[in-house]
Amino acid sequence: MSNLALHQVTKQFGSVKILHGIDLDVRDGEFVVFVGPSGCGKSTLLRIIAGLEASSSGEIRLDDRLVNDVSAADRGLAMVFQSYALYPHMTVKQNLAFGLENSRMAKAEIEARVMEAARMLLIEPLLNRKPGQLSGGQRQRVAIGRAIVRRPGIFLLDEPLSNLDAELRVVMRAELAALHKRLDATMIYVTHDQTEAMTLADRIVVLRDGRVEQVGTPLELYNKPANRFVAGFIGSPRMNFIDAQVSQSGLDVGGRSHALPSIELALGTPVTVGVRPHELDITDVEDGTLALEITLVEQLGAETVLHGKTHLGGMFTLTAPGQGRFAVGDRIGVALPSQVHLFDAQGQAVASH
Ligand SMILES: Nc1ncnc2c1ncn2[C@@H]1O[C@H](COP(=O)(O)OP(=O)(O)OP(=O)(O)O)[C@@H](O)[C@H]1O
Ligand SMILES: [Mg+2]
Repeated sequence: MSNLALHQVTKQFGSVKILHGIDLDVRDGEFVVFVGPSGCGKSTLLRIIAGLEASSSGEIRLDDRLVNDVSAADRGLAMVFQSYALYPHMTVKQNLAFGLENSRMAKAEIEARVMEAARMLLIEPLLNRKPGQLSGGQRQRVAIGRAIVRRPGIFLLDEPLSNLDAELRVVMRAELAALHKRLDATMIYVTHDQTEAMTLADRIVVLRDGRVEQVGTPLELYNKPANRFVAGFIGSPRMNFIDAQVSQSGLDVGGRSHALPSIELALGTPVTVGVRPHELDITDVEDGTLALEITLVEQLGAETVLHGKTHLGGMFTLTAPGQGRFAVGDRIGVALPSQVHLFDAQGQAVASH
């Protein structure tokens, strides 16, 4: 177990600035997940923490020790990549032991660590196979096993499950959560997957264009997104955004009104209303704050996802419980909930009560 502190970490490739002053504290034993759009700098940041890439400026501290100039091998971290990078000509056992043999550890100790990791990951029966004779999930477990045997202070995992099919991802997600508990390890995990981020993380770090947009527990980010970007990024299906103006009674949404008890903004101020697809009620067309013409119906069994065009011209998504009888072309009304998210012209969250 270790803790990590980043202070104003930047990275520049040539003249292009990729990371703009990242500050972050990761506590002992914490599971922190990095999310953000492709190219926002997640892998680069992880590689800088690992010591595989140098930062352009800023401080990286492990257990309160400045490690900017400490090599990857001496940082006591272990990284698991998306491409498992196993040695194809070695058996699983040899793959697990390889890193340790390089460090000249006693044979008995290597054997003990390999067997312990194999037991933990349920790959004991596979120890004599080669990677080519394993399924994707088994290979992934070997890759994680190689990190475990090193007993790192921090595990760094870069989209470790992205090569697996949906079903196996669910299984491996649960295994990772259990492993984190059992090892009591500090983990930093990069993913594109909403559900992985929400279910695995103690805290999520949302990155965008090399900047931290918000850090918080999954529910903090879901319930109180600091800005429109985070609001749209966390939660699936994604939050709807509608243009409105502050009015006497609350909001004017394209000529229809939505009551809100109090908003700390002047009358007429343009705002963006954010509502999640699960928070809406279907009404008669005339009664809703929004009128919607359905353009796509997705039956998921337990619920139905409806996509449509609002009377303001924008696209909108809502979910209705059960297997509702809706068809493309139907016109419905949508009632907004009494509590909505509001964002100002700069996309920052505005308090409303
Ligand atoms: N060695 C390099 N030289 C120049 N530019 C690089 C280098 N490595 C990464 N970049 C650029 O830095 C930016 C961030 O890349 P990074 O791989 O960190 O993104 P990411 O958030 O991990 O994306 P993804 O979700 O697609 O994996 C990208 O614009 C990328 O093109
Ligand atoms: Mg990446």
